[in-house]
Amino acid sequence: MSKFIVHPIDKLEGEIVVGGAKNGVLPLMASVLLTAEPCVIHDVPDLKDVNVMIEILKVIGAKIEWEGSSLHIEVPKILKNEAPYEYVSKMRASFDVMGPLLARTGVARVPMPGGCSIGERPIDLHIKGFKALGATIEFGHGFVEARAEKLVGASVYLDFPSFGATKNIMMAATMAEGVTMIENAAKEPEIVDLANFLNQIGAKISGAGTDTIKITGVKSFGGAIHRAIPDRIEAGTYLIMAAMNKSNVLVKNVVTSHLKAVISKLIECGVQVIPEGDNVRVISDGKLKAVDITTLPHPGFPTDLQAQFMSLLTVAEGSSVIMETVFENRFMHVSEFNRMGANIKIEGHSALIQGGAKLQGTEVKATDLRAGAALVLAALVADGETSVHDIYHIDRGYNNLESKLQTLGVKIERIQD
Ligand code: EPU
Repeated sequence: MSKFIVHPIDKLEGEIVVGGAKNGVLPLMASVLLTAEPCVIHDVPDLKDVNVMIEILKVIGAKIEWEGSSLHIEVPKILKNEAPYEYVSKMRASFDVMGPLLARTGVARVPMPGGCSIGERPIDLHIKGFKALGATIEFGHGFVEARAEKLVGASVYLDFPSFGATKNIMMAATMAEGVTMIENAAKEPEIVDLANFLNQIGAKISGAGTDTIKITGVKSFGGAIHRAIPDRIEAGTYLIMAAMNKSNVLVKNVVTSHLKAVISKLIECGVQVIPEGDNVRVISDGKLKAVDITTLPHPGFPTDLQAQFMSLLTVAEGSSVIMETVFENRFMHVSEFNRMGANIKIEGHSALIQGGAKLQGTEVKATDLRAGAALVLAALVADGETSVHDIYHIDRGYNNLESKLQTLGVKIERIQD
């Protein structure tokens, strides 16, 4: 187990570069299972979760090589229709292999992913989609198995615009006979990126990014070379960090249209957020006004930036309310912030934050990936040194966070416990 020792900083200055989107790259990698032809994905972040997906794909039959930050993936033959438990238990996104495996071979067997620290996280909507396409589903011995002689296009209405279900059903439907319509689909930019990649290898998908996605099945796929979109959550984390401090920071490799809800809240807080081509400059005097936040599926405020924005609101002037509507248990970080001197109360799905706290450095622990990043942000404005423990969570989604922050003058060290 490692920890970060983080020191407070007077001013953040310089440039910080955002990598490829973790939550975009994982389904892109899984979708390569659809084709026997070689594919290349550029701008892949070297993250724990990406490496877990590499191991799963290798077990299934993929040949994978890194070349710089590009991944060369080729799956000439499916050797095993199953994702091993040891990897799926580490990463829920492993479930992404279900759709493409089912489409390519008619059989997919994946361990039930189970809940995690942020919520129960059922897979009923994925299953509803596979069934609608004609698959039979069996649960047993901790596994879910989908089988289909052939998949046939269908209409699938998602009760909630689930990111995971949308990508899995979209991948499964690419080879189904006829037309599939996914209604109330997730609209995240990573869904659009996945659809673009699938179309590059030969799929026929339209409407990705709207709430109705149309997929016309095809018989086979080719290869493609594709660049992953920038990680909007990594970018948002840096924008929020810059806002919380006195700063003049250029965050590079950002698609501002992916971050409208966040940028508009930062501006409401009194921060200057200035788009400069593919980059965004943040100028802040660190004096912030409190604002209320409600997390929602895209294009609403992302749940993956809720903890980081809470960090900001603990020190903003005034009181605020954060309502978490996407996950039922994503407030584990509240007690860690309160240990640092924040004043936050949880009432049902809302966190009531009395701002203006003078945060104090202490020992805290990352309870999940985004909560971990949020604690690092809090540490930068706290009085004294903070140790953030369990940073293996942070490593799942932020590539070399400490080196990147050091480019802005932050004093942060990784200590092996
Ligand atoms: N849900 C269901 N049934 C389903 C699927 C989802 O009830 O079949 C519920 C979930 O329980 C949850 C809500 O719908 O309450 C949202 O789930 P969704 O499927 O949209 O999310 P996900 O695919 O499980 C991805 C990201 C999360 C991110 C969410 C929401 C990956 C690997 N994970 O999860 O990212 O919070 O979308 O945007 O892509 C993170 O990166 O820190 C992270 C947790």
